[in-house]
Amino acid sequence: MAAVTVENVSMNEQDKMKAAAARKAIDYVPEGAIIGVGTGSTANFFIDELARIKDRIEGAVASSQATADRLKAIGIQVFDLNGVGELPVYVDGCDEINHYLHMIKGGGGALTREKIVAAVAREFVCICDASKLVDVMGKFPLPVEVIPFGAGQVIKKFEARGYKPVLRLDADGKEVRTDENNFVVDLHLERIDHPQELAEDLINTVGVVEHGLFLNMVDKVIVGDPNGPRVMTNANK
Ligand code: 5RP
Repeated sequence: MAAVTVENVSMNEQDKMKAAAARKAIDYVPEGAIIGVGTGSTANFFIDELARIKDRIEGAVASSQATADRLKAIGIQVFDLNGVGELPVYVDGCDEINHYLHMIKGGGGALTREKIVAAVAREFVCICDASKLVDVMGKFPLPVEVIPFGAGQVIKKFEARGYKPVLRLDADGKEVRTDENNFVVDLHLERIDHPQELAEDLINTVGVVEHGLFLNMVDKVIVGDPNGPRVMTNANK
């Protein structure tokens, strides 16, 4: 991918699109608010943008420890979700998004906290680059957060259902742990033709904490196209 320079920072085209989407998302941040902030490289671009306007917000709720650390490092106060009244907006990235604005999330393993914060927020604004737009979800392995106790049995069930599960491991071959100290199992489905049925099946499997299908949860999607950010609104919400 060709390297380009944006505001003295060398970025590839994909990063440039992520940064453009993140910048546009600032339009949805109300003055004086406590906002929800997601996890991942696109969310990190949003945090960079928040740094410029940090005096205009009261603070943020983070969807992961990594995001909380990043927000604190730039001087933004991080609130416990239990202690805030309302969240006007939650801004986060995604791994895949289809034409119905259904999404796969959790590539960074933060899916459960992300879904909880998104469910509390009045408006969920997704920021992404154009590579995240798909006709059919599933090429990106679907993350599922699983309780470690008996996780092998859950994986066997997924295998029997043809879900092609793979326990997520780190570079040292150790199980990746979420912020909730659970495992992540990635389902290599290749295509998800019936997301609603799959979501129901997964959430009804004992041992599953949450899955990365975010169905009809997003309100607006900002796609950082090469021609500039494009905003799509979810007509079904
Ligand atoms: C983390 C997520 C991220 O939003 C998703 O993985 C996208 O990441 P990136 O912005 O780095 O492409 O769901 O759990």
